[in-house]
Amino acid sequence: MSVSQNQTRDAADALSDTARLRQVMGHFASGVVVVTAMDGSQPVGMTVQSFASLSLDPPLCLLCPAKSSTSWPRIIRSGRFVINVLGAEHRDLSRQFAVSGGDKFRDVRWTASPASGSPVIDRAIAWLECKSSAIHDGGDHHVAIASVVDARISQEENVAPLIFFRGTFGAFTVRPGQ
Ligand SMILES: Cc1cc2nc3c(=O)[nH]c(=O)nc-3n(C[C@H](O)[C@H](O)[C@H](O)COP(=O)(O)O)c2cc1C
Repeated sequence: MSVSQNQTRDAADALSDTARLRQVMGHFASGVVVVTAMDGSQPVGMTVQSFASLSLDPPLCLLCPAKSSTSWPRIIRSGRFVINVLGAEHRDLSRQFAVSGGDKFRDVRWTASPASGSPVIDRAIAWLECKSSAIHDGGDHHVAIASVVDARISQEENVAPLIFFRGTFGAFTVRPGQ
């Protein structure tokens, strides 16, 4: 096999490896959050799946924004943001916040968070007010670690979270006591 044939095969293998990795990773079900902040007087936000609790003492969480995101540099500018944990009713909203450009806050009701004035989305099932602590390199993503300065849950008992699995949305039914 010639060098150029080898290069073509390597490129094809790399492509299929990326597609396979994406497909396999898609089998990890997760909740969905929208990260919001104020960029001056403009609200900004993006849908994120790569959110996790990191530490209780000190209180830390993490998320992984893509380096290609246009919203993330605006979110991180002030160093303060809110993680809005979405409910099953927020399926369309999560799609809206995943589209680059345009008016992501169209028809979205929100109030300003107490500490930073970042958008708290109406009926988010929980939210955390955060302060950026460290940004690490993560390949084509950043690994952003944040201090949690405030954290609240919805007062409703029978809330259902929004779930993302294999590229589509679903819901998890909460049955108290089971
Ligand atoms: C369910 C779901 C989960 C997502 N998770 C992430 C994520 O963890 N990190 C990320 O950078 N983008 C994630 N995205 C894609 C971003 O939301 C999208 O690329 C971004 O909002 C693009 O807009 P921007 O250019 O304004 O940043 C996710 C999208 C969806 C629908």
